[in-house]
Amino acid sequence: MVAGRTRPTNPRGYPWAVPGRTCAFQKELLAWYAKNKRPLPWRQTRDPYAILVAEVLLQQTRVDQALNYYHRFLEKFPSLRELACAGEEEVLKVWEGAGYYRRARQLVRLAKELGGRELPRTFAGLLELPGIGPYTAAAVASIAFGEPVAVVDGNVRRVLARLWAQENPTPAWLRERAQSLLDPQDPGTWNQALMELGALVCVPKQPRCSACPWAAFCAGKSDPHRFPQPRPRRVKVLRVWALAARGRQGFIFEKREGPLLGGLWGFPLVHEAQGVGKLLERYGVDRAWPIGTVRHSFTHRAVTVEVYLGFSPLQGDDPRVRPLSRLDRKILVLAEAAVVEGAPRL
Ligand code: ADE
Repeated sequence: MVAGRTRPTNPRGYPWAVPGRTCAFQKELLAWYAKNKRPLPWRQTRDPYAILVAEVLLQQTRVDQALNYYHRFLEKFPSLRELACAGEEEVLKVWEGAGYYRRARQLVRLAKELGGRELPRTFAGLLELPGIGPYTAAAVASIAFGEPVAVVDGNVRRVLARLWAQENPTPAWLRERAQSLLDPQDPGTWNQALMELGALVCVPKQPRCSACPWAAFCAGKSDPHRFPQPRPRRVKVLRVWALAARGRQGFIFEKREGPLLGGLWGFPLVHEAQGVGKLLERYGVDRAWPIGTVRHSFTHRAVTVEVYLGFSPLQGDDPRVRPLSRLDRKILVLAEAAVVEGAPRL
């Protein structure tokens, strides 16, 4: 901080944007961002579609992992037009392993609904598309089209909660504060700078306050871990039984339905141990052996799967051509090892 410089503040001493100009506190964040930002590929394009793909991925996926999927996705579907012509399963195959598959299905729906038209250029227009919520609409509208609308994601929430020492900021409060800080000269860069500050400096566990361009007026600096308080998260544990039925060519998979893994393929599952009998009948399996337990966590759900191995006279599938979730990939590893080890002889 430069001694003696007057800082534009609101009456309580915190920064407040002044319409029509970029204030000192804004310049400090932008200078920090220019120097410290990661050279991510979606920051080197003006293509609204590429920015949309990145923002959809980044909602639930870490940057290092998102990078990989971003390149894969754009290589296979370089434009909205190409995505509109794709089949859902083909898209899920590219998305395989990234989780939150609903995002991929919604992107296909969005492309088909636009039917060759360009993306809308405004926050309000984007918000009308399937699968686009306020976060994605604000990110694309500001980064691709320069609309002065503030983004609020988990990183921004943490920065603002600390800056104003708020334990439980409400969504309305966050929207209002984020908008009050926004630099309207270049809102896309502003939004990304604020998210980057949350990702690199104002991090959850060990914030690097000494490296923060806003440390001088951060009300939460003396006790950053208090702000914001963790949101209570109830994780439901689900217990299911799976049949790994080995057919003549490979294992037997079913197309899944429902919000969690719908559209993907996976091992046949049932919710009660007795239900395994029905699966054996369905796939012509005489006998099945328990080969182990697989555990997998989703955001609001933990799943424990008891896996049974059996042999079926049916054909079965090559798992390389089907989009499978991480959960099913884990089951596959267990089942393949059991076949190799000759589990049925145990
Ligand atoms: N998180 C999600 N999108 C981002 C972006 N464009 N820049 C920085 N962090 C992000």
